[in-house]
Amino acid sequence: MIGDLFADLGAPDAGKTEPLAEGAMVLRGFALADAPALLAAVGEITAAAPFRHLETPGGFRMSVAMTNCGDVGWVSDRRGYRYQPLDPLTGNRWPAMPPLFLSLARRAAQAAGFGDFHTDVCLINRYAPGARLTLHQDKDEKGYTDPIVSVSLGLPAVFQFGGLSRADKTRRIRLEHGDVTVWGGPARLAYHGVAPLADGEHPATGPCRINLTFRRAL
Ligand code: SIN
Ligand code: FE2
Repeated sequence: MIGDLFADLGAPDAGKTEPLAEGAMVLRGFALADAPALLAAVGEITAAAPFRHLETPGGFRMSVAMTNCGDVGWVSDRRGYRYQPLDPLTGNRWPAMPPLFLSLARRAAQAAGFGDFHTDVCLINRYAPGARLTLHQDKDEKGYTDPIVSVSLGLPAVFQFGGLSRADKTRRIRLEHGDVTVWGGPARLAYHGVAPLADGEHPATGPCRINLTFRRAL
């Protein structure tokens, strides 16, 4: 039934759950129906808190452009990585998390087996062709009891998913528009990254990929 619903949206794998590791999986097409509203909300958020290329503590400019919404936002500069309540670019609080973001994140966490997901921040990443995210762990949060919920929109990307040690073998998974990846429990601190984005044009986003990651920072 639900498969038929997704098939109407033109994504043959939609509705499938693909395991990546214990506690980690891809929910194919889970965000497909909400994608237009999610992208409209991203437009509103970035009008108040624009995308920017942050500097790493080592002094490099990140190829991914970022912003946030929620109670806090993730930032990086010469002083390190951290979450903070004010946007350093504007001096204002980050835009509030739209109700749809919250409900989608909670529904996806639930579908992945993580009930009662508490999320207080959504990192919004924009990848232009060539942009990438090197292998890392999401570990700037205060605790790791809640999973990470990551929504892919626009151009496809190759997601790298490894183990708890940087040297562990990584799997490469193609993430398409509308896919949602969830990792938590024993996989919460798994290393992951995104390979350089290939050139392309997507009807929903144009020449880029937008990724939303929901976390519990505080
Ligand atoms: C992240 O690791 O925070 C983002 C992952 C992605 O863009 O898929
Ligand atoms: Fe990450």
